[in-house]
Amino acid sequence: MAGNYADLATLLARGISQRRMYFDGHPNVKQCATEFVDLLGRLLAEEEVSSFLLGVVEGKLVHDGRYLVGSTVVGRQLTSFAELLEAGGYEIDARIEASELVRFFTLAAETEEAPGGLEASRQLLAANGIGLINLSPPYRNYGTSQESIDLADETHSDIETLLAVYQAMFSTVEHAHMHAAMSRDLQIDEARSVGESLVKVSRTGSTDIMNLVNYPDCDTYTVGHSVRVAMLSILVGRAAGLEENLLCELGAAGLLHDVGKGKIPQEVLFKPGRLDAEERLIIETHPEEGARMLLDSNDATPLAVAIAWGHHRRYDGGGYPKMPHGDRTSELTQLVHTCDVFEALTAIRPYKRAMTPRHAYEIMLKDRDAYSPAAMHALVKAVGLYPPGQKVVLSDGTAGIIMAAGDDIERPRVKITHDEDGALLGQDAMLAVDLAEEEAPAVAKLLLGA
Ligand SMILES: [Fe+2]
Repeated sequence: MAGNYADLATLLARGISQRRMYFDGHPNVKQCATEFVDLLGRLLAEEEVSSFLLGVVEGKLVHDGRYLVGSTVVGRQLTSFAELLEAGGYEIDARIEASELVRFFTLAAETEEAPGGLEASRQLLAANGIGLINLSPPYRNYGTSQESIDLADETHSDIETLLAVYQAMFSTVEHAHMHAAMSRDLQIDEARSVGESLVKVSRTGSTDIMNLVNYPDCDTYTVGHSVRVAMLSILVGRAAGLEENLLCELGAAGLLHDVGKGKIPQEVLFKPGRLDAEERLIIETHPEEGARMLLDSNDATPLAVAIAWGHHRRYDGGGYPKMPHGDRTSELTQLVHTCDVFEALTAIRPYKRAMTPRHAYEIMLKDRDAYSPAAMHALVKAVGLYPPGQKVVLSDGTAGIIMAAGDDIERPRVKITHDEDGALLGQDAMLAVDLAEEEAPAVAKLLLGA
């Protein structure tokens, strides 16, 4: 698998969260450690350096003067552990082995009390047999290297806004699922205000938010899935001409659509491989469980209840929960159903690679009775063949990020980020190009999950 430094940070964060969920020797924990060691070896050998420095600045992960935005969202364990240790980051030596990383995951997952200063934290690591991860001093002590954080390709305020929204989305969905698992009442307010911010952010151009939405958050994929479905539903809803206030409601409903999964036992929910018939029946209770919880909250909108209940119902009346007359669900529930399937096909999951939108449409159209034609039409209009946020290489050798679908689904609008030689352009030189214009280059390659 290809990979970059952001993937390294994500693997570290994923290792800690897998260790929280499972035990030391669990294959998922070991796999994160092994993948990290392989990728670290490859990246460091390419650059001929001997260690990887992952900084933590104001709660965000930083590498080589750049915020690792996607990894920061999943990397809360890493940033909060650094804060507990009073460290400014982690310097990881190229010689590290998977077994030492597993010890680090365990320590990060189990340490609750602050050791009391950087020195004490270093001793804690050493006492746990972690000698090849060195804790850096807090960032403010770096002195002159302060300039090294120059945010060449992102403006600070954009990142702040996006991170805040994305983190709020994550915690909303995570809280809702935790409350569900613990049979506590749901807090609907949170989802509602996040739905509103989501609509605001998506209005200013969906590129960045979709870029975040694309990262492979395998450890929390139910949460990531709900977040992406909410975002997609807003984009598709806008393409279908919905009013802004309805989009906010739709966003909140999208965030909560799978909340019933909080009631499903983890062994079934996270089971790798195929489910047997009995397990499938258990999973299929989640729409009813979710709708019941939302109803019990006395605060959810009718739309959120309807969508939680009906998002696995097909347009032709099939799907689940079963209805005696095979009645059809509402157009907005159909819209979320369509986004739900599209997201599941195009997302990266622990057990599969991402699929191109074209391939996903082909699969969906083979089973066209399952989807409302209006919802399908709006989906293609909103996403096109090239989803916003994806990286692409163009026929003239430049590379960039898809900003929005164009009128011609083959020709999206792209922000050019790299020149023909692969060098990153400065913020000022990153021009938006409409590929529908004459003499504009064409898309040569879609870099999935990049
Ligand atoms: Fe679902």
